[in-house]
Amino acid sequence: MEIDVITIDGPTSSGKNSVGFLLAQKLGYQYIDSGSIYRAGSILVLRKKISSDNTEEVTEVFRNLRLKTRTHDHEVRFLVDGEDITDFLHNTEVTQLVPVIAAIAEVREAVKVIQYKLVSSKNTVMTGRDIGSEIFPNVKHKFFLTADVEVRAKRRFEQLVVKDPNVKYEVVLENMKDRDKQDETREISPLRIPEGAIVIDNSNLTVEQTVEEMLKSIQPNVILSD
Ligand code: DC
Repeated sequence: MEIDVITIDGPTSSGKNSVGFLLAQKLGYQYIDSGSIYRAGSILVLRKKISSDNTEEVTEVFRNLRLKTRTHDHEVRFLVDGEDITDFLHNTEVTQLVPVIAAIAEVREAVKVIQYKLVSSKNTVMTGRDIGSEIFPNVKHKFFLTADVEVRAKRRFEQLVVKDPNVKYEVVLENMKDRDKQDETREISPLRIPEGAIVIDNSNLTVEQTVEEMLKSIQPNVILSD
């Protein structure tokens, strides 16, 4: 059986995770968020107290990363050596370290091996920054999801304010602009629209409406129902 991979790339808080998960569910595919692979390795780098300058040891962590996923209660859980590390993926220290780690060429090569292994036997929806451009450039269905930076900052703000009522929208917006700049200008695998990708601006779309848009191009002859 030929494995089908659908790629979704886009900037931070463009809704890739919610959209990717729902699209995968509708199609009966597995869902993999590749940012979580970089985050999982970063957790181990922190635990082992390896300096991010130590490219060799950091890369070794990713070469030895034994990652498994399972869907539980409508979300994908990540397991490393049997330990469920999902709840740590978005810790502040991890979020700060991961862009530095993701900019190391050798780490990206090691992650590519993990990405190929994870899709080797299952139809997959994978989200990230370089999935349709570098990892699976030849797939049939590629999407680039985006939204106005103010809309994305508002989404992020609403997630953060639940945990910290002192968080300021203006600060979140500035951080988001910085993250965009980092992602777009980094030397290795900068964020860009993959060749052949369908661009969807979901500033004014719900997750469901975004997925419906995607399904129209994936299954043009299927009449959609709820
Ligand atoms: O989407 P995210 O915020 O969880 O991604 C975490 C980091 O990993 C972010 O700095 C971008 C980087 N990343 C990447 O370089 N390539 C990918 N395919 C996915 C994420």
